[in-house]
Amino acid sequence: MSPGDRPADLRLDGVLRAAADRLAAAGVSMARGDAERLAAHVLGLGPGELAAAAVTGRALAAADARRLDALVTQRAARVPLQHLTGRAPFRTIELDVGPGVFVPRPETEVVAELAVAELVVAELAVAEPAGAGHALVEPLVVDLCTGSGAIALSIAVEVPAARVVALELDRDAHAWARRNVDRVAPGRVDLRQGDVAGADGGVLADLAGAVDVVVANPPYIPSWAVPLDPEVAEHDPQVALYGGGDDGLVVPAAVVRTAAGLLRPGGLLVMEHGDVQGAAVRALATTAGGWLDVTTAKDLTGRDRALVARRAQRDRR
Ligand SMILES: C[S@@+](CC[C@H](N)C(=O)[O-])C[C@H]1O[C@@H](n2cnc3c(N)ncnc32)[C@H](O)[C@@H]1O
Repeated sequence: MSPGDRPADLRLDGVLRAAADRLAAAGVSMARGDAERLAAHVLGLGPGELAAAAVTGRALAAADARRLDALVTQRAARVPLQHLTGRAPFRTIELDVGPGVFVPRPETEVVAELAVAELVVAELAVAEPAGAGHALVEPLVVDLCTGSGAIALSIAVEVPAARVVALELDRDAHAWARRNVDRVAPGRVDLRQGDVAGADGGVLADLAGAVDVVVANPPYIPSWAVPLDPEVAEHDPQVALYGGGDDGLVVPAAVVRTAAGLLRPGGLLVMEHGDVQGAAVRALATTAGGWLDVTTAKDLTGRDRALVARRAQRDRR
């Protein structure tokens, strides 16, 4: 049977419409986009190619239609889109993701951006030492709570001069990070396993006082605030979501303490938090002391998203 002979109900445009309707009925917010991503995944097409195939009346082979139908059924059951395609885009890269690792979020791209910007300024300082403050030959950056390795790998790719170290507690997430490092930027990220609490005196002790930028997206959801979306509540690992305690700030507080031990004087901490946690997270730094320019950065939707603080003196904690 030639493509032109296929039944009308296997034509891509109709299949996409039906898939989007099923996903919308299941409460998926980006139903049409998800249907297109799943179809593109099944057919091995880019977004532009998929649109062209739909417009020109391309029909699906029966096997592809069955495969897409199975994926749409799973997505309608609220399995994350990224688990079904196996990939999550983040800035300029794509991460392998699946059960056992947190799916990187668009808001975290802003957090990575702040770290990248600091490192690029440092590189410029090397290029133009006369106009510079602290000149860095090989800036050292540590990504605490790295998960899939999204932030660490983005920095490794976007700031080739940087030395990148990443830390992850969870064994499964660490394995996903290892896989991503080996595929995206082999040899570029020094990936370690351990608890961020006390890491400056433990698994990261060799870096104490020498780090230019510490960046982190730790778990920060309070223990009582169970996320509403099934994709999050049922598929992101609990260790990646809940920060500990009624305020969710046990792990973030550990990040601030460990960053204090890792950063050189003048080094920068960038740490993601929830949109209502700005003041509480700034207080983690101001109460501890030894931090300058403690501010909150906003994400692209204008919500409070990250603590930004500069280390004043290494020995004041
Ligand atoms: C919100 S996820 C962020 C992952 C990744 N940085 C990202 O932005 O996509 C938090 C990560 O921190 C890890 N984690 C939780 N507690 C930790 C701890 N005490 N020490 C180190 N990593 C921890 C989790 O396993 C999870 O991978």
